[in-house]
Amino acid sequence: MPVLLEMQGISKRFGGTQALERVDFSVDRGEVVGLLGENGAGKSTLIKILAGVHRMDQGAIFIDGKPVAIHTPQDAQRLGIAVIYQELNLTPNQTVAENVFLHHPQRMNGVLGKIGILDHRRRERETAELLAQLGITGLDLQRKVGELSVAFQQLTEIAKALALDARLIVMDEPTSALPDDEVEHLFDIIRRLRERGLGVVFVSHRLNEVRAICDRVVVLRDGKNAGALPINEATDARLITMMVGRSIDNLYPKRPTTPGDIVLEVQGLTRHGIIEDISFHIRAGEVVGLAGLVGSGRTEVARAIFGADRIDKGIIRLNGKEVRIRSPQEAREFGIGYVPEDRKAQGLVLGMTVGNNVTLAVLRQIARWRHIIDRSVLDSVAQRYVHELQVKPPRIDLPVESLSGGNQQKVVLAKWLAADLKVLLLDEPTRGIDVGAKAEIHGLIDELAHRGMAILLISSELPEVLAMSDRILVMCEGRLAGELSREEATQERILALASGKK
Ligand SMILES: Nc1ncnc2c1ncn2[C@@H]1O[C@H](COP(=O)(O)OP(=O)(O)OP(=O)(O)O)[C@@H](O)[C@H]1O
Ligand SMILES: [Mg+2]
Repeated sequence: MPVLLEMQGISKRFGGTQALERVDFSVDRGEVVGLLGENGAGKSTLIKILAGVHRMDQGAIFIDGKPVAIHTPQDAQRLGIAVIYQELNLTPNQTVAENVFLHHPQRMNGVLGKIGILDHRRRERETAELLAQLGITGLDLQRKVGELSVAFQQLTEIAKALALDARLIVMDEPTSALPDDEVEHLFDIIRRLRERGLGVVFVSHRLNEVRAICDRVVVLRDGKNAGALPINEATDARLITMMVGRSIDNLYPKRPTTPGDIVLEVQGLTRHGIIEDISFHIRAGEVVGLAGLVGSGRTEVARAIFGADRIDKGIIRLNGKEVRIRSPQEAREFGIGYVPEDRKAQGLVLGMTVGNNVTLAVLRQIARWRHIIDRSVLDSVAQRYVHELQVKPPRIDLPVESLSGGNQQKVVLAKWLAADLKVLLLDEPTRGIDVGAKAEIHGLIDELAHRGMAILLISSELPEVLAMSDRILVMCEGRLAGELSREEATQERILALASGKK
């Protein structure tokens, strides 16, 4: 029997960028294929060609051995291909049931009664059946999708795909915004899809997840095939070498530090119902990890310090002096930077070039003491960080929205690294970032700490928190549940504190 999907010799060019060059890719029935590669390697482009979003310049696509033409998303849908994008594709103001049947004319007709009145009951019953097939219960079908957690939104997308009788489901970084327990749940569902004979493509930068769920991995590098491995041969070392083209000896380059004076001190920080009585300090040169489950209030602590949310109580001191920070603008003037978790929405100015985004924060600083700003100085600053973070392509003149997801994140990070700061609040700084750049970012965090910056590192990746922090604070339900020194911290101890077990 021919394989389910076969893509042959796929090429795609965007202006001066060869995003894909004669790439081969295939998925069999009941197979989960991991698609791996560095940021900008071409994963999303390959997926978008399959989805009918981009037209390939060259190549051929076969389904069940027959050549197919995919020119529009409707073509892809008709062929049973469903894509769940990083940015979910739901209509936030409609209910779960409405979303599931949104693009399905036949089924819509089916749930239209004799005289064309929508049979809500029936639509809900069918949606519930689809969800039950996935082992999903407890999702209120009347809820508006915009009010659901990312995990439930994703489940709605999957149910939507099933409603469309999809045979191949492609998930572009589905886990990057999911808490750990939801990742497990998603994996259960992927296993069910596999048992039913569907093909699944799974894109992720987290190698342990890829190993947990995939049967085979295909690696792209610079828009070309870099190799493929059955999962039992896919060690971290082999995958990294395939993705990056070299081995990475040290993912967590941290040198010992001697912390200096206290730079940031927070006392009794409170936003009623969200965070309660948070007190801690960070010294110059110190990296303090902030761990906790998703929803435990880590981001809210950072936002409160940065002046993004109003606080009800609490004192913030900088270098021993009490300060009132009423807005992010004021925070920046005090020398505090914040790399937000949701970078697309909060970190970038779309429509501006990469270079201008990087120098945005620097510009504000320079503008305070000089009115005429030398463009070439800014450009060289931008160029330097684009180079250090391995932004691809390494060009500061491109519009930032033309970069791949992970490269856009690097630009946000570069913006704050380039600014001259006392305190840097990093919220999930390496989420969605490939291994090579991850090591680079860890190196930069270490470097900034050595230059005397006080750094708060929020991360759900425990190996990252453990390896990069001098001390670790753990949050649970809006409160600090405990503090662990670098020596005493282990994954188990962090998780115990985070889940409220003392
Ligand atoms: N619409 C576009 N216009 C111009 N260039 C683009 C466009 N979409 C992608 N590119 C370029 O094509 C290359 C591949 O990007 P793609 O988004 O496929 O990478 P990716 O492997 O998905 O990366 P990531 O892990 O960061 O999501 C990149 O160099 C990117 O800048
Ligand atoms: Mg991508």
